[in-house]
Amino acid sequence: MKDLIKKLPKAELHLHIEGTFEPELMFEIAKRNNLKIKYSTIDELKAAYDFNNLQEFLDLYYEACNVLITKKDFYDLTYAYLKRAKENNIVHVEIMFDPQTHTERGIKFSTVIEGIHQALIDGEKDFGISYKLIMSFLRHLSEEAAFTTLESAKPYKEIIDAIGLDSSEIGHPPSKFTRVFAEARNQGYFITAHAGEEAPSSYVWEAIKDLKVDRIDHGNKSLEDPNLIKYLAENRIALTVCPLSNLKLKVVNNLNNHPLKTMLDAGLFVTINSDDPAYFGGYLNDNFIQIQGALNLSENEIIQLARNSIEASLLEDKQKKVILDNFKF
Ligand code: HPA
Ligand code: ZN
Repeated sequence: MKDLIKKLPKAELHLHIEGTFEPELMFEIAKRNNLKIKYSTIDELKAAYDFNNLQEFLDLYYEACNVLITKKDFYDLTYAYLKRAKENNIVHVEIMFDPQTHTERGIKFSTVIEGIHQALIDGEKDFGISYKLIMSFLRHLSEEAAFTTLESAKPYKEIIDAIGLDSSEIGHPPSKFTRVFAEARNQGYFITAHAGEEAPSSYVWEAIKDLKVDRIDHGNKSLEDPNLIKYLAENRIALTVCPLSNLKLKVVNNLNNHPLKTMLDAGLFVTINSDDPAYFGGYLNDNFIQIQGALNLSENEIIQLARNSIEASLLEDKQKKVILDNFKF
């Protein structure tokens, strides 16, 4: 089974590039920028990766981002992830970045996106990994700040494919961003939003009805509402599920209780993703391997999950077909 998982071509659709910041690289970049990290050793830093909820994780994630200053920093961060992606037999990535995490502390939008984008270009050349870019708004900030960010993205419209919504979920429902997502849709972006990670199924409904999302990030709490399950299945709205993230952030108390199998059995269009792998204890193959073991998923289910990742991606139909035609397992 592990060999099958490793061999399967996969797309990663829910990945925060800032969440791939490995401690070794963090210390290296801090040093070259003459900045101090709150922790004096890698082990001390890793010991802090013990979260009780999403907010505890986010506090550390934003703090770590403080050492990212130059275009090269964003380049190195992204290129390091792409190397890992290659090792995981990921053939296509749709990475999220949070420009506000950086512009809020005085880094230019252009520095962030140009560093990330150059690494994606080089990664495609060096590893054959195709890519899309998702710009995510921070939901703990205002809708006005999201509008400013959307405006900053205008010169980069050709390289940004989708708009997302992330950060602290509870208390910041999708409806807070209805107008800015209407504008993003007008501008032609594909829409995705984190919903139903910690907050209830009503947040998933709002993402659908108010933001008119094309895809949902997480969506675990959708299972609370049979009408929502039916709606998601009938409309083939993909959920980007992240098992190890859910475990580390205590969305589930044990992988044996993870809702993925129930989602599959309910006919939902689910995919497996790593979210913030540097913090959550594993990249994509680890997510597949651990959830397969915990839920005793069959080979057919594993193959289906990998196929779903290609089908739910933003690739064109003919590109999807080329990859799926190679699924001879
Ligand atoms: N949830 C919400 N916001 C995030 C996450 C997450 O898992 N990772 C980075 N930002
Ligand atoms: Zn996420």
